[in-house]
Amino acid sequence: MRKVFPKTGIDWPALEAEMAALSDEDIDWRHGRAPLYVFHGSDSAYEVGRQAFMKYFSENALGGRRAFFGLKRMEDEVIEMGLDLFQAPDGAVGNMSTGGSESIFMAVKACRDWARGQTRLKEPFNIIAPFTAHAAFNKAADVMDLEVRRLDTAADRRADVGAMAAAVDDSTIMVVGSAPCFPHGVIDHIEELSALALDRDIWLHVDACVGGYVAPFFQRMGRRIPLYDFALPGVRTLSADLHKFGFCPKPASTLFYRLEEDRERGLFHFDQWPNGQFSTATLSGTRAGGAVAAAWAVMHHLGVDGYTAIARDLAAMADAYVSGIKAIDGLYLVADPDLTIINFAADDFDIFSVAEAMGTRGWLPGLTQNPKGMHAMLSMFHETGREEYLADLESCVEQVKGTNSQSGLKAVY
Ligand SMILES: Cc1ncc(COP(=O)(O)O)c(C=O)c1O
Repeated sequence: MRKVFPKTGIDWPALEAEMAALSDEDIDWRHGRAPLYVFHGSDSAYEVGRQAFMKYFSENALGGRRAFFGLKRMEDEVIEMGLDLFQAPDGAVGNMSTGGSESIFMAVKACRDWARGQTRLKEPFNIIAPFTAHAAFNKAADVMDLEVRRLDTAADRRADVGAMAAAVDDSTIMVVGSAPCFPHGVIDHIEELSALALDRDIWLHVDACVGGYVAPFFQRMGRRIPLYDFALPGVRTLSADLHKFGFCPKPASTLFYRLEEDRERGLFHFDQWPNGQFSTATLSGTRAGGAVAAAWAVMHHLGVDGYTAIARDLAAMADAYVSGIKAIDGLYLVADPDLTIINFAADDFDIFSVAEAMGTRGWLPGLTQNPKGMHAMLSMFHETGREEYLADLESCVEQVKGTNSQSGLKAVY
């Protein structure tokens, strides 16, 4: 039955109680039972982000230049800190957006507009990406009438750069690499992609949406992280999400351009309407001021030392998950994760049946297809539930092993 718009207003205490009741059946994500969607770094980063968000709850980042100068300054500083982190050369620029999909969209738009000015490039344009690239590239391509050619990865689940090079033709405008890819958590061979992009004079976008704000700190604590940022000369744009492993409140992402003229290509300008000049660097018009303020505050609160300390905790936790999973007979990691995304599979029994059994125990299953696997993007929410998860996983594997069980589950993001 359709909800009726209430005639008289309802006070907050009653609304609060109703809202709590509405979420009664939610997955217990605070205790690590959701393998995606939510992130946690530290309690203090959470609290600083929340407080800062609420302070700028009503401000609109769209009006940063004309009305909310403090917010504009904060956005500029978030970008400058990101440029510093990603080793961008002088002259590089960037802007915040509302998420990874939007950052990717704007990078593709800038690239498409650049390509239109290159007479050697023939429409319809295409983008060459590994099978593992995020769906957002197809979303952008769908809107802009571009084609995405997804190629199988190499045996290590990283982009097969040789195959990508062979697929480049007169209509290829962009090659994509992920740092890391969402399905398997491995960083593509960005150094080789950079060389390919320079050699063929095409755009390389590095999608560091999920790993951008954590990989540099894994590196600082001594982990071997392959190069993926502007230190590589072929990297033309890079997206990195603050609302993931930057531990900032949603919605907050960053998009960086090596060249200022490319950012200009990403902008939308229009003045043929009554309100005159309208210019944005994002698909969105209005943007939450709170998200900008919170990102600024969390980055300052944690600093390099704070992010490195969280990276240390994350790495220890991810290692414990990996060894716990490897210790369960019949399970193996699809790839050795570079950061904290894990994907594991089984050859002797149906892994989706295991996932289904985990679902009945209150764990939202993360699933991948081609190959079939179970998936989790681990943040500090997952430390609390780790032992219980591994114990349940072992028992669900035992339950499924030796049966011909075939789950009807499908991989869903
Ligand atoms: C590698 C990668 N790119 C892009 C995105 C899209 O980000 P968003 O959901 O913020 O649009 C994600 C989301 O998980 C991702 O993992």
